[in-house]
Amino acid sequence: MQDLKGITFDEFVIIKQKDFSSASGDLSKLLRDIALASKVINREVNKAGLGEILGMTGARNVQGEEVQKLDEYANEQMIKYMKAGGQCCAMGSEEEEDFIIVNEEHAKDAHYVVLFDPLDGSSNIDVNASIGTIFSIYRRVSTGTPTIDDLLQAGKHQVAAGYVIYGSSTMLVYTTGNGVHGFTLDPSIGEFCLSHPNIMTPENGKIYSINEGENNNWPEYVKEYVQYCKENVKEENRPYSLRYIGSMVADLHRNLIKGGIFIYPPTTKAPKGKLRLLYECNPMAFLVEQAGGKATDATNRILDIQPTELHQRVPVFIGSKNMVEKIPTFMKSEAKA
Ligand code: AHG
Ligand code: MN
Ligand code: MN
Repeated sequence: MQDLKGITFDEFVIIKQKDFSSASGDLSKLLRDIALASKVINREVNKAGLGEILGMTGARNVQGEEVQKLDEYANEQMIKYMKAGGQCCAMGSEEEEDFIIVNEEHAKDAHYVVLFDPLDGSSNIDVNASIGTIFSIYRRVSTGTPTIDDLLQAGKHQVAAGYVIYGSSTMLVYTTGNGVHGFTLDPSIGEFCLSHPNIMTPENGKIYSINEGENNNWPEYVKEYVQYCKENVKEENRPYSLRYIGSMVADLHRNLIKGGIFIYPPTTKAPKGKLRLLYECNPMAFLVEQAGGKATDATNRILDIQPTELHQRVPVFIGSKNMVEKIPTFMKSEAKA
């Protein structure tokens, strides 16, 4: 794969498409549509401080969260390019209460549905910290008019997933179930170019990522695990380092490359955690498992969870295999789900 370094994302997905004899090219086209939407979002992100795109819209989304102008802009671009591309028959967005059916004539034979978080890490927009876009793709299961069941599929049925991180450089990281591959945007040619083929995450890491401010609101087993991370045990590389940016995409990307565990646990305020199963936890879980890591809700594999609602939340423990597998050992029998 090293000899493919530098080729564009568009070329890469076409080359990899040959791995699937039955491939019609539709998934490749859909992935390229997502990459195109992210380039348009990237352009606004990069000049956010100069335009009128910073700050709040004054609205609140279905999550009850204040919608930032860049949330809205990113959402509009993802919907626009999914509709225009014709490869997607329905979509679900963090910013849309209900799922969207693509009625355009050119999408009537579309096989795929897409779920996305158009702008992840919104609280970081105005302070120039890394943010991202997360996407998850399934084959539709319905015939005729798309239904919510096309979107409420367990994460293990994803055909592709990925994220774009708008950081010190802009990267697209994705999987179709054949490894995880990272592409860096070359602004001089406007193309994502292969920079990180076959990303594998270390089985052990020295980083833990959690919002320590919520310590008093965690279940006992989470408090005990975080204490474990802080113990002086040199031969086990403890204490670990706490790294927490507040953008799932940025925290996950760092831990994917370096090793580590990211945790958004249940809290007294959010008994199911904060992060959404369909467009945050499932796509990240698919990527991390493909990179040799693990993703659970403390005891159950995230990708096995059968969704019941578009915006449902789940607790998430995700990252280096041996770190995620440590979590259940801190649970007393009564706490195990
Ligand atoms: P979003 O901006 O799409 O709502 O996601 C924000 C999420 C996630 O990116 C991050 O890990 C988490 O919120 C941070 O939550 P806290 O500020 O509660 O730690
Ligand atoms: Mn998010
Ligand atoms: Mn978001």
